[in-house]
Order: sequence, then C-alpha cells, then structure tokens
Amino acid sequence: MQQYNKPMLKEDSLKDKVIVVTGGGSGLGKAMTTYFLELGAKVVITSRNLEKLKNTAKELEEKTGGEVLPLQCDVRNYDEVEAMLAATIKKFGKADGLLNNAAGNFISPTERLSANAFDTIIDIVLKGTKNCTLAFGKHWIKIKQEKATVLNIVTTYAWTGSAYVVPSATAKAGVLAMTRSLAVEWAKYGMRFNAIAPGPFPTKGAWDRLLPGNLKDEFDMKKKIPLRRVGEHQELANLAAYLMSDFSAYINGEVITIDGGEWLQGAGEFNMLQKIPEQMWDMLEMMIRSKKSK
Ligand code: HXC
Ligand code: NAP
Repeated sequence: MQQYNKPMLKEDSLKDKVIVVTGGGSGLGKAMTTYFLELGAKVVITSRNLEKLKNTAKELEEKTGGEVLPLQCDVRNYDEVEAMLAATIKKFGKADGLLNNAAGNFISPTERLSANAFDTIIDIVLKGTKNCTLAFGKHWIKIKQEKATVLNIVTTYAWTGSAYVVPSATAKAGVLAMTRSLAVEWAKYGMRFNAIAPGPFPTKGAWDRLLPGNLKDEFDMKKKIPLRRVGEHQELANLAAYLMSDFSAYINGEVITIDGGEWLQGAGEFNMLQKIPEQMWDMLEMMIRSKKSK
C-alpha cells in the first residue's frame, strides 16, 4: 500500500499553534490548512474573497473539528495585512506561523504583458510575501516572541527561471532570496524561515491559468517528471506541516523541492539518453571502448 498520500505526523504535532495561511481558501493553501487543523493547530485563512473563505472555513471546521478564522486581506496592501494580523491576535491571542502561499500567475509571452499585468503578479507574490513577512516579523520582534516560523511557497523556476511566466519567476526568485536572507538575520529573534518548491500539483487556480483549454492534454505534465506522476496534495501538506512544526527546529533557510525530480530532468546535460533502449547500450559501449584502444 502506498504511504505518501497519507497523513505523516503524529497526532497533536501542531497542537495550540496559531498559523496564518494566505490564500488558504483554495487549492494547496486549503490542503495545507486542512492538515494543520487535523494536527491541532488553529488556522487563519486569508484572501481577497471573503465568501469563499467563509465556505472553506465552515467545511474544514466540520471536517476536522478545528477552529478556522476567515479574514479578507489583499496581501498587496500593507494596511490590510496589519489589520489581518491584529484580528488574528484579537481572536487567538498570538500567531506562531505564517505560510506565504497566496499567488497570482498566468502564462503569456512577456511582450504581450502590460506594465500593470507584470506589476500585478510581482505585487501579489513578492510584495505580498514581503508585506506579510514584515508585519509579522516586526510584531514578533516587538513582543519578544520566543519562536515563530515562516514558510514560503515558491516553485522550482525560482532558480531556473521559466519562459512564459516571467513575472512569477522573477517574484518567486525574490521570495527565495528573502527566505534565505531573513533565515540568517532574524534567527536571533527566534524566527525560522524555510521554503517549499513544488512541481506540478493539480489545482483549479493553477491549471485554469497555466494549462487552459486543451493545453492540459497537449502538454501532459507527467511526461516531464521522472517519477511519472504529479504531486498529491497530502504529500505537500505533510512537508508543510513538518516545516511548521517543532520537529524541524534545526531547519532554517532551506528550500525543499517536491517535484518528483522534474527540474533536474530538464537540467542534466545527458538526461535525454533515457530515450535510448536498453538493448542499444551494448553496441554503444563497444563503440566507445573501440575508440579508447586506438
Ligand atoms: C495578459 C493579463 C491576463 C492574461 C490579466 N492580465 N490576465 N494580461 N494575459 N491572461 C492583465 C490585465 O489586463 C491587467 O492589466 C492586469 O493583468 C491585472 O489584471 P486584473 O484582472 O485586473 O487583476 P486581478 O483582478 O488583481 O487578478 C490577478 C490575476 C488573476 C493574477 C490576473 O489571475 C488572479 O486573481 N489570480 C489569483 C490566483 C492564481 O493566479 N493562482 C495560480 C497560482 S499558480 P491592464 O494593463 O489591462 O490593466 C502558480 C504556480 C506556479 O503560481 C508553478 C506551477 C508549476
Ligand atoms: P490557487 O488555488 O489559485 O491559490 C492562490 C491563492 O492566492 C488563492 O486562494 C487566492 O485567493 C489567493 N490570492 C491571490 N491573490 C491574492 C491577493 N492579492 N491577496 C490575497 N490572496 C490572494 O493556486 P494553488 O495552485 O493552490 O497555488 C498555491 C501556491 O502554490 C502558490 O504560491 C503557487 O505559486 C504555488 N505553487 C503551485 C503549484 C501547483 O502546481 N499548483 C506549483 C508550484 C507552486 P483569492 O482569489 O480569493 O484572493
């Protein structure tokens, strides 16, 4: 029986922790929120769409028996982020973790983008992560909180770059740099900073914007992945919960890739040799050896 899509941590691993998940009303944010609740955390979910957040909160409270606070907050606006933090403290008395998960993205040739289109993605992903990180970080420093955890969701093209999603790649690279920089600078205040770089994990939000129409069938993501499958939400939630929990207390400044080997397959110089059939290798070896002996 496969284990990877099963809950991994022991019960109560996040007991009494208060975790804020931006973009927690849908997709991967919702999946991670669900598991945090199952592990005993109280979770604040935030995004622009309060109606959606309320529905998700109700659904997850019923499913897990946990407590969820839905808060409207556009991460692009610092004032709204400060108000979201204040509402979190008012409701739960503290915040222990921040999961910067909210994002905006769509595929487009870069020359087709208006300046505002480029800004919109940078503002949600990079400025939004900066706004939340700065507001929460200042708060934790001010109240001398003993420990806190920030987890940022990036993706593998944060370091490889990627054509056709240039604003997203630019912004995610900035988030990765922020993660590593603050992991050092704010460790003295008890804060840990880590990132997760997922490969393809099907969600409606991402798939509608990155693989619209029949692109889904034309570009089968599984074929790009050495393990020949896409990710399942629970396996990402397992990793996120571990990084949020005290079990990962010595992990700081790390980015963990969870992509079935996808980006390395694209990167390795001779990875295309996988296409060579097994029976051809005897002949190839003979050819190589014969050159050497001359
Ligand atoms: C070109 C576009 C466009 C498109 C919007 N714009 N869509 N330009 N091609 N397909 C332009 C608009 O014309 C406008 O510019 C500017 O972008 C802002 O658009 P708005 O619709 O006004 O913005 P807003 O309502 O804030 O919506 C933001 C959004 C939208 C990013 C455009 O898609 C959104 O709400 N996304 C949130 C969820 C999301 O994107 N999830 C996917 C994350 S997936 P002008 O000049 O006309 O004013 C992800 C995965 C990465 O990150 C890795 C996968 C492996
Ligand atoms: P998603 O469901 O579209 O999630 C994005 C979330 O961000 C939504 O809940 C959205 O809610 C919120 N959001 C967007 N703009 C916002 C704003 N201005 N302020 C506050 N919240 C905002 O897509 P997803 O696939 O789950 O993506 C989640 C994260 O995983 C993102 O960081 C994405 O880059 C990353 N990721 C995903 C994949 C994948 O394959 N799915 C791969 C790599 C990385 P509202 O619309 O209600 O505001």
